[in-house]
Amino acid sequence: MTLRIASMLRAQGKHISFHTPGHKRAGADITELSYSDCLLSPRGVLKAAQEDVARILGAERSFLLTDGSTSGVFSMLWCLKAAGICSVAAPVFSHPSVRNACKAFGFEIVPVPQTVRCGIPCQPAAEEAERALARAGALLVTSPDYYGNFPDLAALSAVCKRAGKPFLIDGAHGSHLHFTPELYAGSYADLWVDGVHKSLPALTQGAVVSAKNAKWGELLGGSVKMFRTSSPSYPIMASVEYAVKYPRNEKIERAAELFKTQYGCVKNADWTKILVPFGQNCSLARERLERSGVYPEFDDGNYLLFYLSPCTREGELKKLGRLLTALPRGSVAEDAPAGVIPMYREET
Ligand SMILES: Cc1ncc(COP(=O)(O)O)c(C=O)c1O
Repeated sequence: MTLRIASMLRAQGKHISFHTPGHKRAGADITELSYSDCLLSPRGVLKAAQEDVARILGAERSFLLTDGSTSGVFSMLWCLKAAGICSVAAPVFSHPSVRNACKAFGFEIVPVPQTVRCGIPCQPAAEEAERALARAGALLVTSPDYYGNFPDLAALSAVCKRAGKPFLIDGAHGSHLHFTPELYAGSYADLWVDGVHKSLPALTQGAVVSAKNAKWGELLGGSVKMFRTSSPSYPIMASVEYAVKYPRNEKIERAAELFKTQYGCVKNADWTKILVPFGQNCSLARERLERSGVYPEFDDGNYLLFYLSPCTREGELKKLGRLLTALPRGSVAEDAPAGVIPMYREET
C-alpha cells in the first residue's frame, strides 16, 4: 500500500530552510509547506492519508493525531458538547484524560461502577452501564483496557442504540484490532480513538480519532481543530499512516496466545498484553528481568505486563519465557499497593 506521507517526504528536493523548525535540517522534520499540506485544513497528501486511514479503520472520517490519544479523547468529548450533550457515563477506572476533558468542558461524569478482582479492574457489566447511561447523555468506555480486557461491546452498543445516545470508545490500547472486527472499537462506536503508538509501530504520541457516520464526522472535524497542535510532526504523522497500513502478524499473535498458556499468564482476550502474576515478588522479578535487558510495560505490584505488537519477534518471546521460568512467583493481593497500579484511580 502506498505510504503517502513518507513518499512525499522522500520526494522532497534539498532546500535551504527559511522555515521552522529551527534546527534548519529539513529532512523528514519539516513544517507545513506548499507541498506538504496542512493538517488543520488538509487538501493534499494529508487529506489522502487520512482518507486511506479512514477506509482501513472502517470510519466515515479519521483524523491523524500527533498529541496522543489524549487529544482524541478531548476531541470526542467536545463533539458531545457541540451536539448539546453535557454529561457522560464512564467507568470509574477511565483514563485521566476523560476526567480532565469533562472537568474542562463542565461535563457531569456519571460513574459506571467497576469491581476489582485479584488486583485487576473488571470491565463494567452492560446492566451497570445502562443504569448510568439513563442519567447521562452518552457512554464512553475503554476497550481494551491496559490489562487486555474488553467490555461486552455488542451489548453496550445495543444499550446506546436503545437509548438513542452516542457510544464513545477510548481505544488507546486497541489500534491493532482493526484486523479483528469483533473486538475492534470501530465496529461498535460512533466515535473512537486508536492509540496507534501503543500497539502498532508508530512513533510515541501517534494516534487517530475516528467517526462512524457523516454527522459525527462533521462535528469531529471541527472538534479536532481545537485540540491538535498547529505544528504537527511529519515524522509522527508518517509513522501513524505506516502503522495503520502495517500488515497483520498472525504468527506472533499465535505465539503470544501459546505463551500465555505455557507460562501461567492471566487469561485475557488481547494478544498484545501478556500479564504475569508475581504478587509480592513483582519488583524482584522486574529488577532481574531488567538486569537481563528485558523491560516490561509496567509493574503494578501484583503483575508484570509485557506489551507486544506486530513487530515483536518470536525470539524475544522465547527469551522472555526462559527468564520467566527462573523467577519466583508470589500470590497476588486483592488490591495492588497504593500508588503502584498504573490505572486511573482519582488522585487522593
Ligand atoms: C486508556 C487510555 N486512554 C488514553 C490514554 C492517553 O494516551 P496518550 O498517552 O497517547 O495520550 C492512555 C495512556 O496510557 C490510556 O491508557
